Amino acid sequence: MNIALIGYGKMGQIIEKFAIDRNHEIVLIVDENNRDQVTVEELQQADVAIDFSTPSAVLENIEFCFRANVPLVVGTTGWYDKLDDIKEQCLTHNHTLMYGSNYSIGVNIFFHINKLLAKAMNPYKQYEVQVEEIHHTQKLDAPSGTAITIAEGILENYDSKSSWINNVIGEDEAIPKNNQLLIESHRLEDVPGTHTVLYSSEVDQIEFKHTAHSRSGFALGAVIAAEWLHDKTGFYNVKDMFKFD
Ligand SMILES: NC(=O)c1ccc[n+]([C@@H]2O[C@H](COP(=O)([O-])OP(=O)(O)OC[C@H]3O[C@@H](n4cnc5c(N)ncnc54)[C@H](O)[C@@H]3O)[C@@H](O)[C@H]2O)c1
Repeated sequence: MNIALIGYGKMGQIIEKFAIDRNHEIVLIVDENNRDQVTVEELQQADVAIDFSTPSAVLENIEFCFRANVPLVVGTTGWYDKLDDIKEQCLTHNHTLMYGSNYSIGVNIFFHINKLLAKAMNPYKQYEVQVEEIHHTQKLDAPSGTAITIAEGILENYDSKSSWINNVIGEDEAIPKNNQLLIESHRLEDVPGTHTVLYSSEVDQIEFKHTAHSRSGFALGAVIAAEWLHDKTGFYNVKDMFKFD
């Protein structure tokens, strides 16, 4: 496949390596410094585009891919308040987009088991549930998109929580109400991404944890997603690639 990379930062550069390893060609690299010069015709040389840019750039990049009618895998997080608008535009005009807070295969298995665990824990009110995420200090959004997906998986299956609330450790901290699921965000040097779900009672604690050793898992997953998406039409979440049920 011919691939366009949109965003050539930490993730874009690792995705390039995995794409070449899997015999794809990178036909276009778009970053902040050349974004204004790239034309629709240049983008149309690609069978599929992969965006790992920034929360402030991603919406314009999505519209650019829609204009070129090039299928797009979006890894960038921090824009999901606009998801419904983008979905409508995508479906109305027969474009193709996949989004996902985390393209790692392991994390997608984690998302699935997280829901099953919440369902199993639901009757046992002596446990208090909490989500913790740790990421590197350059991360622009908090909580992480992955932590939000984990929280949503719990809320769907756990009656005593109806919304989530975020505390970034070291900043002003809110006290969660009983029906609020706390997501604690920690920012530490060089951590690619660690997510833990904790169920704590007076007598014990269950910890369910995923630790990314590097960014490679996200990058490989994004290339596999591009391979899956490039000949489809429609609006997808990364979970649509997996057949867990
Ligand atoms: N979904 C996942 O699996 C996953 C995994 C890791 C990171 N992410 C997300 O991906 C995004 C990128 O992460 P990163 O670690 O590579 O960040 P990064 O800061 O290293 O790279 C972002 C790149 O985007 C470029 N950019 C800025 N404006 C642009 C524009 N208008 N058009 C194109 N490029 C532009 C920047 O110059 C930079 O090179 C973040 O939102 C991060 O949270 C998602």
